[in-house]
Amino acid sequence: MNILGIETSCDETSVAVIDERGAIGSNLIASQIERHQPFGGVVPEIASREHLEHLMPLIRQAVDEAGITLGEIDLIAVTAGPGLIGALLVGIAGAQGLAWALDVPVSAVNHLEGHIFSPYLQRSGNAIELPSRFWSLVVSGGHSSVYEVERNDGVSIRALNRTRDDAAGEIFDKVAKVLGLPYPGGPEIDRLASTGRATFDLPLAKFKDDTPDFSFSGLKTMAIRVARQHGLAEGNGDARQLSDFCASFQDAVTSQITDRLDQLWRQRTSTPAELVLAGGVAANSELRRRITEWGERHGVLVRLPEKIFCTDNAAMIAFAALQKGEAGWTDARRVKAFSRGRDRGPKKPA
Ligand code: KG4
Ligand code: ZN
Repeated sequence: MNILGIETSCDETSVAVIDERGAIGSNLIASQIERHQPFGGVVPEIASREHLEHLMPLIRQAVDEAGITLGEIDLIAVTAGPGLIGALLVGIAGAQGLAWALDVPVSAVNHLEGHIFSPYLQRSGNAIELPSRFWSLVVSGGHSSVYEVERNDGVSIRALNRTRDDAAGEIFDKVAKVLGLPYPGGPEIDRLASTGRATFDLPLAKFKDDTPDFSFSGLKTMAIRVARQHGLAEGNGDARQLSDFCASFQDAVTSQITDRLDQLWRQRTSTPAELVLAGGVAANSELRRRITEWGERHGVLVRLPEKIFCTDNAAMIAFAALQKGEAGWTDARRVKAFSRGRDRGPKKPA
């Protein structure tokens, strides 16, 4: 079985081909970062136009690289949301046209489901076998949640927490912008932090109730204020101080994440066999180190995704469709784009 995956929810056009064991035939990503960089963030209209230009050539190339023909595609998996609505529509329209022409079903995939399962993909060979219960920590530019995944007769996904305001990647990008670093700021902060020491005091956000939810906006505001106070805004200040500031900021974000994992662990009703890390921020070196430590402390196997599967890619979309199985198949006409998580996203607990 060959699954063609299409991902156009944000600023990467990606097309992949995987088989029924999750082995990757191709996984192509056309990044638009350079087109958005002058604006310091993603410009939706530019994103849609770029997807339109790249989608069809990438589909041809992905099929070629996988060594198959279009006629050998059995299923098309496409991201239906959440994301930029105009960008999503380009991928969906492409998937629909192709599905009609090839007379194959479509699987509409929630982008978050893509991230949730992505750590089980491997660059070469079949996907790693999924356990019957695991937690997936998804930290990206738009989302921060821990999901509990159960696999019995199908898959059930339950959000154990959420962010009450900003996402982890979003505050990396916003703080980096104030520091005068290029977009996206996460990798830049990560790079600078590697030579710094966490000497700045950035406190841990706690709610009065014992909710395991994340909240990153207070930390963002505080970090921006501290950066300005120390003359680090707009590329000013000395390199040593900047590295120390980045290390401190990264430490504060990761401390909140492990603190909430501790809380979820204390409140758990069942124990996951594995904890996996997913989403763009899963590329962060300090987070990878601290999550590994967390797993060792709690006796939980930790899986860190290969970096290619952390950021948006179509292999993870095709792989999520594979996990959902035939229950997720639909006629191409029924696929609808949705911009916000709450419309179709894995439900948060009541
Ligand atoms: O998953 P992703 O590619 O797109 C979304 O679905 O949002 O995540 C992109 C986010 C950006 O905010 C980027 O700054 C962040 O992931 N990111 C990082 C690192 N690499 C990417 N954040 C911290 N450290 C990194 N090394
Ligand atoms: Zn993403």
